[in-house]
Amino acid sequence: MKKMKLLSLLLAILMLFNLAACGKTEAEPESEELPDFKAELTSTDLKYTLDELESMENDRTLLVNDPNVPALYKYFEGIVKIGVAFTSNQILDFEDPVTQGILKHYNIYVLGNEMKSDHCNPAPDTYNFDDADNFVKVAKAAGSEMRGHTIVWHSQVPQWWFKADPNDQSSLQDCYNNGTLASREQLIERVTTYINEIIPRYKDDIKYWDVCNEVLNASGIRTVADDSYWAEIIGDVDGNGYSDDYVEIAFNAAREAGGEDLVLMINDFNMEWQNSKTQAMYDMVERMLRKGVRIDGVGFQSHISVDCNVNTFRQNIEKIASLSEVYDECFPEYAGNFRVQITELDMNMFVGANADGGFYKWSEEEFKQQADKYYELMDMFLDFADEGVIDAILFWGTDDENSWLNSTPKLRRNAALLVDRDNTLKPDFWSVAKTSFYHTGP
Ligand code: XIL
Repeated sequence: MKKMKLLSLLLAILMLFNLAACGKTEAEPESEELPDFKAELTSTDLKYTLDELESMENDRTLLVNDPNVPALYKYFEGIVKIGVAFTSNQILDFEDPVTQGILKHYNIYVLGNEMKSDHCNPAPDTYNFDDADNFVKVAKAAGSEMRGHTIVWHSQVPQWWFKADPNDQSSLQDCYNNGTLASREQLIERVTTYINEIIPRYKDDIKYWDVCNEVLNASGIRTVADDSYWAEIIGDVDGNGYSDDYVEIAFNAAREAGGEDLVLMINDFNMEWQNSKTQAMYDMVERMLRKGVRIDGVGFQSHISVDCNVNTFRQNIEKIASLSEVYDECFPEYAGNFRVQITELDMNMFVGANADGGFYKWSEEEFKQQADKYYELMDMFLDFADEGVIDAILFWGTDDENSWLNSTPKLRRNAALLVDRDNTLKPDFWSVAKTSFYHTGP
């Protein structure tokens, strides 16, 4: 009798488990089940005319998710994609105004942190793609394209990749001093294994990749002195006198893993104003293209300041854009495919008298100056978009509260983006949109 009771209890528990499991599979939303965000979040009555824009631009109470506010990307449709970086936790609650702003205004997305290699490959044979999977799912529902950021970098990269013993707990500096860094073969094996996991996984969804990020210093490839162990470990494999072979290895592995349709890019900062670095990028990419490494474009991160010299920036984009001739010559079957993207645009406000920064409350006058600079910049970018050079402009963050510039290089209240801390639209938003009407070409 007791046995029977026990048996039926067990059976009941099993059935419950079964039910729960079934329920879970049924309730789990498939990507098709997410709503058509772009359609839901913006009124269809909007006209996208200059008059309409001017009727709203001085209203500082308009919220980023107001359905009667036009979607920013729409002003530039067919000319250039407008994008945004965000963190995985900013796309969990679809009622959140910040999330709605992401879904509504931009048609290309990038994850700010959770697709970096340290997050996705924290230990040998351990992969963590949950955040990236959800990113892809939400981006697809929002009808937005995606950039993958990033694979090879000296920062936010798994430290175990660089150690002879992946379980070694000492710092890379100590491993370097003690001669216990990974071997060339180990590092190549680890990075290509990772590339073969992540690239095919998102092959049909993520078209643009920052295969390499920030590999240069002001004049050439980064070294241990610049906190990078890549060149130190892999070094000059082909004996051509340059220790940047790890870049080639990563690009070739990514191409092999993802196929010819992917747009594989190299991304870096300061090229906006540092001519020596732009030249170093030009020289390295040219050399690699001539060697048969298909690099499809260069990302200008564009972490600029409100006093940025737009003319110097323009000249440096021109310099890099001229690589398209080399690209077309080396890869005639892909001619026209080389591009520049503005990958991480934001605008530091702490310059001049405010340079020291702090918990400053920015005036509307200062916001106006910022809006003028954003206008000048966008106008310049659109010259390149018209020529088919720039095909995407992405902002690095959703709003002034959610910006890495509040903590980098130190804790202070920066105001780098188009949306204010209270989710209202700053004058920047409208001046960016306005360039779509006033832009007259180079
Ligand atoms: C930044 C993120 O925004 C921060 O949250 C993180 O703490 C550090 O990295 N260049 C890049 C980006 O390529 O990946 C960086 O992102 C900003 C500078």
